[in-house]
Amino acid sequence: MTERPSNVSSPADPPFSPGLAGIPVARSKISYLDGQKGLLEYRGLRIDVLAQRSTFVETAYLLIFGELPGEAALNRFTADLIAHRQIKFRITDLMKCLPEGGHPMDALQAAVAALGMFYPAKHVKGRDVQYSSVVRLLAKLPTIVAAYARMRRGDNPIPPQDDLDHAANFLYMLTGKPPDPLTARVLDVCLILHAEHTMNASTFSGLVTASTLADAYTVVSSAIGTLMGPLHGGANEEVLLMLREIGSPEKARAYLDRQLAAGEKIMGLGHREYKVKDPRAVILQSLAKELFARFGKSPLYEVAEAIEREAVTRLAAKGVYPNVDFYSGIVYQKMGLEPDFFTPVFAMARVAGWLAHWVEQIQDNHIFRPTEIYEGVHGRDYLPLGQRGA
Ligand code: ACO
Repeated sequence: MTERPSNVSSPADPPFSPGLAGIPVARSKISYLDGQKGLLEYRGLRIDVLAQRSTFVETAYLLIFGELPGEAALNRFTADLIAHRQIKFRITDLMKCLPEGGHPMDALQAAVAALGMFYPAKHVKGRDVQYSSVVRLLAKLPTIVAAYARMRRGDNPIPPQDDLDHAANFLYMLTGKPPDPLTARVLDVCLILHAEHTMNASTFSGLVTASTLADAYTVVSSAIGTLMGPLHGGANEEVLLMLREIGSPEKARAYLDRQLAAGEKIMGLGHREYKVKDPRAVILQSLAKELFARFGKSPLYEVAEAIEREAVTRLAAKGVYPNVDFYSGIVYQKMGLEPDFFTPVFAMARVAGWLAHWVEQIQDNHIFRPTEIYEGVHGRDYLPLGQRGA
């Protein structure tokens, strides 16, 4: 038996970058970010301009089809989305059978995987299959999320309402009440901000699945699973739990010092790409202020601001600033969402980016098959059971 110490690589090994950091895995025209300047563009359009002037539906079209739609195209796309908002009763029944205490991201992942069984879409390179998968997934995710939120607390799901736009309809399906226009607009902007973000963990996960020519439902359910973790989309839920634990702005400094001394990360701070404040966090912070001006302050917002102030003196030198998830949870909480539904709302937005990358990838597909550096042993003897020791 020969053994090579695990920290020694052979001259024949390819360069190794843990987590694929800095390794391009695709050529893409969908989005661009400059982490030093705090710049994010979708198809060349700045995120702050889209947040101010676009809608989620228009932005999703832009991301997936490459251009802002003309009036007729936008009308058709909007009408198609509205026509496909309903979900089959079997999907609702499936969610009813899930454990009450289960995480809504798991329910969403299961429901999206099941959706694919109703709409078999094998020929993923076909334009019609792509369009119908895009429309169904964008349209049905909010219905699934809202239905699960209601069923979990023992209420019946509320069917979608055709005369409400994408975000307003989601809020309506959650509460059964016509949503306040400011709240609906703020949610729509949140969806724009979360719709796409270059090559991130969940998009990569979706693309690995897409590269096998699996259908879009399977691609999106893979991506949902990856979005769930606290180092990715799950951070927005963790931020709110952290702010609740801290409780008041005066306690922010001691909390930060305690966590940093223990080598713990502060949720909602830091980003692999941004070394300045995430431009989406800047927009979300001002949306939070707008909501609070209208509906009254949230004490958690003051705790968040205190954490941000204290973190600057301790972490700015490392390029660690608030990311998109730092203020999003406070905004969603003000809308009446429970913390474990923050990440499903993120998924309702990011599905646009996942689908854009899916469409782009399968035009010139190569199955992902990376390599690894083997660090194990060779040529071992097979010992009979009685000779293996404890
Ligand atoms: N709190 C405290 N210190 C931090 C934080 C943080 N949130 N983030 C980074 N740092 C420090 C690290 O300790 C490290 O310090 P060191 O050089 O002294 O060891 C340095 O900054 C670099 O950190 P890395 O972990 O190497 O940065 P990386 O780019 O790998 O990680 C990540 C980025 C995973 C997002 C990290 O910042 C983090 O865990 N943040 C908290 C979780 C979070 O908010 N995730 C959401 C990201 S946005 C999204 O996915 C939608």
